Amino acid sequence: MSDPRGPNRRTFLKVLSAIPAAGALAAFLAPVLRYLKPNLEPGLGVPAGKLPPNLAEGDLPKGEPLPIARLEELQEPWSSKFFVFTQKYPQYTPELARAFTVPGVAIRLPWKVRFPGYKDGREPTDIVIFSRICPHLGCIFNYVPDWREITAGYGGYMPPPERRHGLLGCPCHLSIYDPADREQPGRVLSGPAPRPPRYFTYEVRDGVIVVTGAEPGGIA
Ligand code: FES
Repeated sequence: MSDPRGPNRRTFLKVLSAIPAAGALAAFLAPVLRYLKPNLEPGLGVPAGKLPPNLAEGDLPKGEPLPIARLEELQEPWSSKFFVFTQKYPQYTPELARAFTVPGVAIRLPWKVRFPGYKDGREPTDIVIFSRICPHLGCIFNYVPDWREITAGYGGYMPPPERRHGLLGCPCHLSIYDPADREQPGRVLSGPAPRPPRYFTYEVRDGVIVVTGAEPGGIA
């Protein structure tokens, strides 16, 4: 006489054996779906004044305007000024209570570029201001005025002749950025960084450079 519990047991074992296969399928599909529908528009930062599609106006990081330098302190090409900006994110608490301090650097360039953080990128400027949080995995990168130091201390990257000037270098996994690229300030030259560093928005008020906010979309 057959065991009446037999078919139930077989069904149970079948379901049990299907679980790893279903898990493997989900693990395979998740990155494919994520690739097909990313969180943000792919690309290189969101222009000032233009929100990423997944953010509303109230989602933007807030911060007190921060005077960082007088214009004459950044007279010389490739001179720089470091600062720390405090950003508050409504995504973490509705009261904007969660604050991050974000180190940044302002750099005087010898030529003008279209920088999204200055007058919405509409007017060329020779001052660019970046967050120093690396878009790769969040280390704090350096501004290195002498490109030879980049070659010596950041993995041997040798910039082409037209980029032999001040560069940004991350000591963690050796991403190198060009703050003075004419088309895309902060362009990734080498290393694993997926995009240029985030920019700060700024204004010049009575001869003082004032940081007014940060590129929307995240910290790194
Ligand atoms: S964190 Fe900067 S290159 Fe990886």
